[in-house]
Formats: sequence, C-alpha cells, structure tokens
Amino acid sequence: MKRNFKLVALTAATALTAGLLVAGASAKEVKIGVVLTYSGGAAHFGEQIGRGMDLYIKQHPEAFGGHTVKLIKRDSKRPGGDIAKNAVQELITREKVDLLTGFVFSPNAMASAPLATKGKVPMVIMNAGTAWIPSLSPYIARVSFTMWHSGYPMGKYAHDKLGCKTAAAGFTNYPPGKDSRNAFQTGLQEAGGKLVESIPMGGPRDVPDFTPFFQRVKDLKPDCFFVFVPAGNHAAAVFKTYSAVGLKAAGVRLIGPGDITQDTKLQGMGDGAVGMITMHHYAADYDNPENRAFVAAWKKAYGADTTPDFMAVQGWDGMAAIAHAIKAQNGDVTADGTINALKGWTYRSPRGSITIDPETRDIIMDANVHRVVKKGGRLMIEVIDTVPQVKDPCKALKIGKCAK
Ligand code: PHB
Repeated sequence: MKRNFKLVALTAATALTAGLLVAGASAKEVKIGVVLTYSGGAAHFGEQIGRGMDLYIKQHPEAFGGHTVKLIKRDSKRPGGDIAKNAVQELITREKVDLLTGFVFSPNAMASAPLATKGKVPMVIMNAGTAWIPSLSPYIARVSFTMWHSGYPMGKYAHDKLGCKTAAAGFTNYPPGKDSRNAFQTGLQEAGGKLVESIPMGGPRDVPDFTPFFQRVKDLKPDCFFVFVPAGNHAAAVFKTYSAVGLKAAGVRLIGPGDITQDTKLQGMGDGAVGMITMHHYAADYDNPENRAFVAAWKKAYGADTTPDFMAVQGWDGMAAIAHAIKAQNGDVTADGTINALKGWTYRSPRGSITIDPETRDIIMDANVHRVVKKGGRLMIEVIDTVPQVKDPCKALKIGKCAK
C-alpha cells in the first residue's frame, strides 16, 4: 500500500495505568491492525465502527488489564478484497501486529483469512457477515452477525406473521447477498412459503439504479419482497425506489434484514417507511440500561445530532472482546490464546446479551423483529418480537459451505 494511503497510527487507551496491572507484571502495548473502509462510498461504515471502538477504549480503560493498545489503521476502501489483503500482509509482516480487526465487507475478510492463518495472527471480525467466513481460518472470531441471524428467522416470521405466502428476493450480488437470500429462502420454505423470484441487483461497490429490478417484482406481484443490500447508500436508494416504483401501492410488502432500516439512514426514509418490518440485532432505540448508557456516551462524544448504528455497536463489542482477550493473556497476545479466550466469552452488549459460540467462533445473540414507527416527530425502531439467543442457523443446519 502506498504511503499516502495510510492513515496515521493512533495510540489509544492512553489513560491506562500500570496500577491496574497484576502485581509484578509490566504494561504491554498491543498492536492492533484495523482494516476498515475510511474513504469512498462506504467511509461511513469505517467511521461508525471506528467510533464504537474508540468509545469503548475511552470508557473502559480498566478492561485491558493494565495494558495499552495501539491501533494501526488501514483503509480497505472498497469491497473487492485486494486492497484489504495487501493491507493485512503489510500489517503482519512490517508492522508485526498482534491482532487484526475491522473488516466491513465479506470479500475483504475472505481474502485476508489465509494470511491470518499463515501469520498466526488472530482476526476479530466487526462486520463481514457471510456465514462461512470463520471456517476460512481457525484464528477468526466474529462479534458482528451472520446473514442467517436475520435472513432465516425473517423467512419464518414473514410467512407466519406477515402473510408472505409468496415472496421475491432481491440481493446485492456478492457472497453476503447470496447468503442472505439463501437464509431467507430456507426459513420461508420451512414455514411453508415459496420464493417465486430471486434477483441479483448489481455489485456492492456502486449503488445501482434499482428501478428495473423492482419493476420486475411489481409485475410478479408476490406478497412480499425481501431485499438485502450492504446498508448505507444502497439502503437509502432501496426505499426510495420502492416508493417511486409504486410497490407499496401495489400491495407488495418490503422486508429485509435491518441493514435496510439502518439508524443512520432512518430519518431520510420519510413517513412512507412507517410500519416497515425488518429483522436485526441492534437499533439505537433499544431500551436497556447498556444501550441507554452507550447512546448517551456516543452523543456526548460525537454530537447530539449523531446516532450509533449496528456497525457502531459491533465496533464497541469487538473492542470489548479484544480487551477481554488481552486481559486474559496478560498482554502476551497469541492467535491460539486469543481464540481460546474468546470461545464462550459472554458480554452484556447494548444490543443485549452476546456470547461467542465455542464451537463455531461466531456470535450467539437475539434476533429482533423491528417495526418502523413515528414518535415525537421522528422515525424510530420498535422491537415487536424476539427470537432469543440465535446460533448461526447456517452452521446449525449444516447448509452448503457451512457444512464443513
Ligand atoms: C458484508 O460484506 O458482509 C456486509 C456489508 C454490509 C452489510 C452487511 C454485510 O450491511
């Protein structure tokens, strides 16, 4: 990677004091390579995850067992995998990082996984959601989600509670999109519903014109239209096109994972979004003590008019997981030691209780049914149902690449 593409290394957790150390031990500085999208159309994701990480470090200096972390940030820019892979190579060989984290897009995590294995560097994934990613390296643990946490229960809920006997699926045509479609289809079919059309809708890098895809769905007139896009600008365009094409008026219900009702895009969706149902693991409106404290600290740090979204909480939780691993190893971070420390790790996150499944190294968490409501002049997410403590259904059901 060229020098001018590097972001300045940031020394964090400066507030840690050696006084927090176990007697006789010395404070270590743990080098963490952070690979996120800091520029381009997905820069917002890097900002959300990065802010969540920084906030955790600031609020919980004691959690690191008296050690410090140095975040060495690299911009993966786009979903293609190549830039992230080069960055990871450089972070391992030149910077000699102890741990890797970040990874917004699945292809970036997939391309980097063999390097984690070869370099024996643990990798904590803070977003990338394709279900089978942890099987690519024994040194991967994931604190975010899999596409099946939302897609599979959504398929069942859509059939049983929303009257979706028939559905079409539209998805961004790359691994997590196909995975989300498969998850939804599996849940829908198990419940007795039918997927009548499956539409790849362009790649993840640029937001396509969704009109022709949505027009096709209007012509087919299924009960429901399940859409996965990689959040952000894609999500904003999905709802706009849904309204413009007249799918709502035609009686086709738009559903999907919470990626399409992301907190940071919610107010821009307009009143037409009221009543929309999605399935996800976090919204800034969650009413629990951990989340109230998290959102208050966020607004204090980043501005009253800002809001964390699901990526922010994944950055926060990921840093909590990393802190736990550092403390458990007393600052001497290894790949095996990190993964062992994370297996079975449980935490009260702003999203609710989370655990890293010791068998799969993937997260176990609630899947919540989100309904968009309007209260006090703003759009909000209300949780109307919960599937408690979901283990990744793709691995539980041993489907496709999850069978390994
Ligand atoms: C992914 O590439 O795995 C991904 C990106 C954005 C999302 C969800 C999944 O919102």
